[in-house]
Amino acid sequence: MTRVERLRAEHLEDALGIGTATPRLSWEIGGFAQQQSYEVEVEFLDGRVTERVIVHSSASLFVPWPSRPLISREAARVRVRVWSDEDGGPSEWSEPLHVEAGLLERGDWNVDWVTAVPATSTVLEAPGAAREGARAAELMRAEFDIQGQPRAARIYVTAHGVYDLELNGIATSDEILAPGWSSYTHRIRYRTLDVTDLIRPGRNAVGAWIADGWYRGRLGFNGGVWDNYGTDTALLLQLEVDEGAGPRLVPLEWKVAASPIVATGLYEGERHDARLEQPGWSSPGFDDRGWTVPTTVPRSAFGATLEAPTGPPVRVVETLAPARAERRPDGRVLIDVAQNISGKLRLTGAGIPGGTIRIRHAEVLEADGELATRPLRSAVSIDEYTFASSDTVTWTPRFALHGFRYAEISGWPENAPLPVVEALVVHSDMRRTGWFDTGHPLLGRFHENVVWSMRDNFVDLPTDCPQRDERLGWSGDIQVFAPTAAFLYDTTGVLQNWLRDLATEQRETGSVLNFHPWIECGFPKDPAAAWGDAAVIVPWTLYRRTGDLGILSDQFDSMSAWVDQVFALTGETGHWSSGFQLGDWLDPAAPPDRPGDSRTDAHLVATAYHAHTARLVRDAAALLGRPADHERYAGIAARARAAFRDHYVSASGRVVSDTVTALALAITFRLLDGEAQYEVAGNRLAALVAEGEHLIQTGFVGTPIVCDALTTTGHVDDAYHLLLRTDAPSWLSAVTMGATTVWERWDSMLPDGSVNPGEMTSFNHYALGAVADFLHRVVGGISEIEPGYRRVRIAPRPGGGLADVSVQHDGPYGRIECAWTREAGRMQVRVRIPAGTTAEVDLPDGSDFVRTIGAGVHRFVFAHRSPADDPVRPRRWNIHNPEERAQMLAAGVA
Ligand code: BGC
Repeated sequence: MTRVERLRAEHLEDALGIGTATPRLSWEIGGFAQQQSYEVEVEFLDGRVTERVIVHSSASLFVPWPSRPLISREAARVRVRVWSDEDGGPSEWSEPLHVEAGLLERGDWNVDWVTAVPATSTVLEAPGAAREGARAAELMRAEFDIQGQPRAARIYVTAHGVYDLELNGIATSDEILAPGWSSYTHRIRYRTLDVTDLIRPGRNAVGAWIADGWYRGRLGFNGGVWDNYGTDTALLLQLEVDEGAGPRLVPLEWKVAASPIVATGLYEGERHDARLEQPGWSSPGFDDRGWTVPTTVPRSAFGATLEAPTGPPVRVVETLAPARAERRPDGRVLIDVAQNISGKLRLTGAGIPGGTIRIRHAEVLEADGELATRPLRSAVSIDEYTFASSDTVTWTPRFALHGFRYAEISGWPENAPLPVVEALVVHSDMRRTGWFDTGHPLLGRFHENVVWSMRDNFVDLPTDCPQRDERLGWSGDIQVFAPTAAFLYDTTGVLQNWLRDLATEQRETGSVLNFHPWIECGFPKDPAAAWGDAAVIVPWTLYRRTGDLGILSDQFDSMSAWVDQVFALTGETGHWSSGFQLGDWLDPAAPPDRPGDSRTDAHLVATAYHAHTARLVRDAAALLGRPADHERYAGIAARARAAFRDHYVSASGRVVSDTVTALALAITFRLLDGEAQYEVAGNRLAALVAEGEHLIQTGFVGTPIVCDALTTTGHVDDAYHLLLRTDAPSWLSAVTMGATTVWERWDSMLPDGSVNPGEMTSFNHYALGAVADFLHRVVGGISEIEPGYRRVRIAPRPGGGLADVSVQHDGPYGRIECAWTREAGRMQVRVRIPAGTTAEVDLPDGSDFVRTIGAGVHRFVFAHRSPADDPVRPRRWNIHNPEERAQMLAAGVA
């Protein structure tokens, strides 16, 4: 029997407070039947009006809202059922989805900002003033009366800073670091909370913790910037209670006081003095006579739009038990979480009243066993807790976050038992959608490391790293990683939000910047290829993977403005030949202190990207039905491609800047002419890769695409040699050194186990892990032919001695799987294709035959070489080394 599953509104399975009046609906079909019609039922909860609409269509993604638009605060219960080719009648109704609009109009907000600075205080900092260390968090509270048990109660809330809320002593949600980081000058997200069950008849109290967060805490490198968005921390909180006659605003009179968090900063860490705790502060009846009345600032004083979130909250997503807690002779306790995470420790134990413990964090240890904190630069990442009593307590910092695997606790009382230590993994709570498994242990662990680096760098926005004084939305990093990210997790909400920031700041500054949200900490504002190209490639990737054309229409102006900007920079020649570039960043040949000095010409890279993204904008224009734009960007794309060929490609297909990255770009971005050129370029690429002993010769730009370029030009075995090398620089070398995340540099840790002396050395950057997309598409064999995987390509390409690989992706229509094994000259492939989709299966069975299959589970068995018969990497002899020369002669190679 056909089932309707995973009903969602826009990209949300939790549609409380949605920011759209007419959310599009999507669902999956459980089983393999083909949907022929669907019926949507919308029950408006207030008027008890139910509408039903039947549509004769196989569409199950982003179908239009079938009824009148929701108004602010309005809730509806939505259900869907379908008719399929398999069942006589309709399916059962889906689980109902509660869709409730947030505050859709600015005029729906009826409260003002309440600043956490008490009215009597005069300690406001001048904007941008340099500060010593992090500031304290504040508490705010208000009491209110409710007659009976309310039918419904909602809090609409956001902050300048970061906040946690409590109602009658109970946390209102498990979200962390709300409202997250957006370009607050332009847009700030609010959350809608259902607090019906927390409110009781009679007296109630609401309390807020509020701290600097990204709003006015320190951000960025070179010392960073304080008070980037303002000098106040403030709360905007609207409580509405429906006691039967519709929602009514509950007026709140706030009071403010110092909190026990005496200092907290995202980079600095947190200091909590339990002696300053005020039990009962967020419950009614608390004596707040000593608290002060805060100032209010009218809403109109801030121009930022108030927006409903598009993505999931940041939460504690997983709790890990450390592998090791070891007391050192001097009393310090070393914790090894055994996994590099973005998160914090939670301790449970009893200390000495007035005693303070201190927790330091680091990703790796130095050779002498001490924490390697130098790579953190100025993000010192130190948490401290002062005990109020000798009772057992459980504590974790509230507003601090660290990138770490190791921690050191000092100050724990000598004879007391060690605390129970847990590591809390914190990131955006996205739905996991992609898996890759193999019996090859190093490759399997490498993939696991990619997943972890993604998790650790998706804390509300896609960042470069989670530990040092950056944690910024670097555009180049997510540009290369987006295809991998979109496979592993449902990233749509997080990336849509980030793209809005990018577009907004781009409109303001006239350029896509190298990171968004932007902060002025000395980095050039000049446009750079591969980084700015994120404006086009990230939305394009999301569209391809989700099938949501709305993403392209939302971003089209931003996408096209980027291409226009670059085209103008090239003097309308298409050849981007001058100015600032980051190029093939972190080519292993670049000196440690000059990571942009790659062996590939940075302007070749720039021109290749210009041609590539102009073409994507051309295609987006066609999809969006914009013929004039289509023509314009087709012209720009052709210009740029011609410029690339004129300046960098020889008639035969050799590429000037005879490097792996240059050739990989020319091949992958389809910048060459005719089969013969691709063959020459592919052969040259394979030769260069072999000359380099199948070690990595590429940086951020070349690394994600080199295996694809080799494979599409017929050198799949070279791609495997490259993939599976374990000497440095290679993807697996870090794995052999015990890495649990992807490193920023090929040699973040040097072969002798010491930390790279460069001042920019992270052990948790996802960019060089972007080759995981190749693992999913080519090694595993799942890619999309039509957007949203409506038409899937199944084309695994085994090699490298791998005997088994399995990939799964929970796409918009449901689970796609391709699992293969090889043994004794036979290959078996098991494929699962979800309802509503078809697949083209192109197997490595020696034939050119491509079969089309429909939804269901399919098995294929055919002759194939055994893993042991896969080509082995050719040995490169060093003829200058007498020993090797002798071996070579003995082997008869000479
Ligand atoms: C970041 C990178 C980024 C680069 C570009 C670094 O400091 O961590 O990942 O893309 O700068 O300049």
